[in-house]
Amino acid sequence: MVKIAVLGYGTIGSGVVEVLEKNRDVITRRAGEEIEVKYILDLRDFPEDPYADRIVHDYEEICQDPEISVVVEAMGGVEPAFTFAKKAILAGRHFATSNKALIAKHGAELIAMAQEKSVNCLFGASVGGGIPIIRPLNCCLTADVIEEISGILNGTTNYMMTKMADEGSDFDDVLKDAQQKGFAEADPTADIEGHDACRKIAILTSLVCGRQIDFEDIHTEGITKITATDFKYAKAMGRRIRLLGSSYKTGDSYCAMVAPYMLDDSSPLYGVNGVFNAVFVRGNMLGDAMFYGSGAGKLPTASAVVADVIDIVRHKDEHIPLEWRPEKLELVDYRQLTGRYFVRTTAQPAAIEKAFGMVTVVEAEGVTGETAFVTGEMDGYAYEQAAEQMGDILQCIRVK
Ligand code: HSE
Repeated sequence: MVKIAVLGYGTIGSGVVEVLEKNRDVITRRAGEEIEVKYILDLRDFPEDPYADRIVHDYEEICQDPEISVVVEAMGGVEPAFTFAKKAILAGRHFATSNKALIAKHGAELIAMAQEKSVNCLFGASVGGGIPIIRPLNCCLTADVIEEISGILNGTTNYMMTKMADEGSDFDDVLKDAQQKGFAEADPTADIEGHDACRKIAILTSLVCGRQIDFEDIHTEGITKITATDFKYAKAMGRRIRLLGSSYKTGDSYCAMVAPYMLDDSSPLYGVNGVFNAVFVRGNMLGDAMFYGSGAGKLPTASAVVADVIDIVRHKDEHIPLEWRPEKLELVDYRQLTGRYFVRTTAQPAAIEKAFGMVTVVEAEGVTGETAFVTGEMDGYAYEQAAEQMGDILQCIRVK
């Protein structure tokens, strides 16, 4: 019997307990022994909960119990999660987490500590919710240089943009709905401003290059400036608006960013709707692969956390190697990427042509008093220069 402690009894923590309970038999078979939740750490009490007797309020109680071999963290946020993680690992406990903020900031450090102590630090649920993407990158796609990794990495914003396009619903109503369904972060600003996707693409890029990527270095745009008018144009163009986190191998480094894109149906990410996430990977030998599934929510995320616990139990006497060294990799400026841009402006046609040259004008039903167009292929520096020269920009969304 393996005894574990779950830190945080919110959406994910209670999901972990539920998955372990509901799938007890199959989990025991696959892990090779039974997994029991001995403690649940939370500030609150849950008197009506069947696990009420396992709730503790002091982390020391868990640390001092030699029976605990795995600590599962589902509290979110960097602190006190980082302090708790270090304490667990340094005391020789395995550690599993769904916390992308913690892993994006301290992943390399925790992995190095875990290696030193011959334990495991696994974080499969930190990107893509229930989709297995971390383990495939670490264990399966190891023969390739990854040239591109791009994905729909935030379920809340994908859910919102799907609903806004399909139902014409309001931004605030759709956000509330996503929060009620347990998709959103405690502070949904992290979802809608792209910070959550930024941490996830930082983790994925760190794993594909084996070095530390600082998420603060990743250019990040959210979806808060996307309007109902943009969806009208997208519809007229047969495109969907999606928030993407992307990384492209550029020389010896990577170029990474988070931004909304207009996708057409030739993109493998075009059909990813609602709360689903997908991660597209292009390897120099493999070619293309895509990982798709439930990207947020209680049970999908908890399922990935429990899968890590099972992996830990299967490897409880060894450290599973993970290449993510603490040395930082300097990213290439995102403006080096070339692409096309959808632009809405009140500028006159002559000013548009002078700044951008030949463009493709787009019309949308019921939209007047402005001009919308798609530029030719250009890099980010050329776009910025042309946009400044033309002025009067109402909107700009990258086109893929
Ligand atoms: N708020 C996140 C999302 C949860 O919507 O994708 C999963 O990381």
